[in-house]
Amino acid sequence: MRLKDKVSIITGAGSGIGRATAIKFAQEGSKVVVAEFNEDTGKETVNIINEAGGHASFKKVNVAEFKEMEELMDYTVETYGRLDVIFNNAGIGLHEPLFDHTPEDYDTVVKINQYGVYYGILAAARKMKELNIEGTIINTASVFAFMASYHIIGYNAAKGAVKMMTQSAALDLAPYGIRVVGVAPGSVDTRIIQSYKDAGKTERLARHQMRGKLMQPEQIANVVAFLASEEASGINGTTIMVDDGFTAFK
Ligand SMILES: NC(=O)c1ccc[n+]([C@@H]2O[C@H](COP(=O)([O-])OP(=O)(O)OC[C@H]3O[C@@H](n4cnc5c(N)ncnc54)[C@H](O)[C@@H]3O)[C@@H](O)[C@H]2O)c1
Repeated sequence: MRLKDKVSIITGAGSGIGRATAIKFAQEGSKVVVAEFNEDTGKETVNIINEAGGHASFKKVNVAEFKEMEELMDYTVETYGRLDVIFNNAGIGLHEPLFDHTPEDYDTVVKINQYGVYYGILAAARKMKELNIEGTIINTASVFAFMASYHIIGYNAAKGAVKMMTQSAALDLAPYGIRVVGVAPGSVDTRIIQSYKDAGKTERLARHQMRGKLMQPEQIANVVAFLASEEASGINGTTIMVDDGFTAFK
């Protein structure tokens, strides 16, 4: 129960890494706001948690809209009385060669994967400051915040920004006792990689990990729960690789 009595928001918690983290946080004693664009999958996550004896509620949100992120903070405090942790995790993949990646496509991916994280950092930090809570902000970057891959220029740019925003926000929020950290997953078996799987590239993605397997969302969730806990109080401003060695060999 490392997160006992904490109140946490998890964006993109209707699927994959977000859902696994919401379930893990609830098991560790946190009350969880499942903040998700997709109403059906978000409510499913809430049911999984509540049926297992945890405490979760659903708030529909588009992370790319700052006003909705502010409303999410208000909803959380009205529902549970405080805000200790936000996991800015919602994201999309957009895989297209540079010449096909239009300015509109770039906007779409950056609006969700970069602005969505910035909005989450800003809105949560304002609420934590207002309530005088020394909370924790965790952001989902990617191994592709650190290295380029083919045909994902918008995604690469947005994830690079997430890594740097994590450092920058940690610095500005340190005087308020708020920690900001990131996770950089390798290839995780979630809906975001479905198009690669459909194209028969599962084996190729699996080989990127040292142990030759796709990662499971729970492997990321376990690290996020640790980062949210007091045990990680010495970790700040950095983005932790959770990639089974992806970035450590070629
Ligand atoms: N799966 C991987 O291999 C991998 C690797 C590195 C980083 N990531 C990152 O992990 C995060 C989670 O992805 P995942 O792998 O669990 O994929 P996923 O598709 O299973 O989950 C993403 C969730 O985010 C939600 N979402 C998308 N846009 C949203 C918006 N505008 N507002 C609110 N919710 C929105 C989706 O509905 C979905 O439930 C993403 O930021 C992704 O870039 C994933």
